[in-house]
Amino acid sequence: MAYEQTFVMLKPGVLQRRLAGEIVSRIEKKGLQLVALKLMQIDRSLAETHYGEHREKPFFAELTNYITSGPVVAMVVAGESAISMIRALCGATRVEQAAPGTIRGDYALVTGMNIIHASDSPESAKREIGLFFDEKEIISYEDPNARWTY
Ligand code: RTP
Ligand code: MG
Repeated sequence: MAYEQTFVMLKPGVLQRRLAGEIVSRIEKKGLQLVALKLMQIDRSLAETHYGEHREKPFFAELTNYITSGPVVAMVVAGESAISMIRALCGATRVEQAAPGTIRGDYALVTGMNIIHASDSPESAKREIGLFFDEKEIISYEDPNARWTY
């Protein structure tokens, strides 16, 4: 177990479907801490950099078109094992494998529009937080409920 920060993004469509509050609420209820949050319209250059590892994949154009198609909610989420905790809350990438009860399992119908992004490793988290946030946008604050979650 280790204290970690991870990058989480509610993909386009979440705001339009009025689901942002519900999804953020799942993250909060788990006990994880929001330390940065903003609305953003991602431009093509940022989308292609963020998803650079998928540049050669057949779904790259579809993915970058989608991610730039409307505003997103970008967040930094912190807590013990935050990187794997959020990935577990998200559920599997492929929506037909995403279990009911997970975010993708409950809110996404097709893999190409699977609602939420979360960093998949400490290296990705560091890189992605740096791409989307300035250091001064990440707020460190005391969590008055920490003794009830840790
Ligand atoms: P993400 O990066 O968005 O959090 O998703 P992930 O780690 O669970 O999955 P990844 O392999 O990184 O794929 C990135 C996104 O590409 C889309 N995708 N489409 N059509 C397809 O076969 C396919 N495969 C992946 C998904 O939207 C996935 O979240
Ligand atoms: Mg990924």
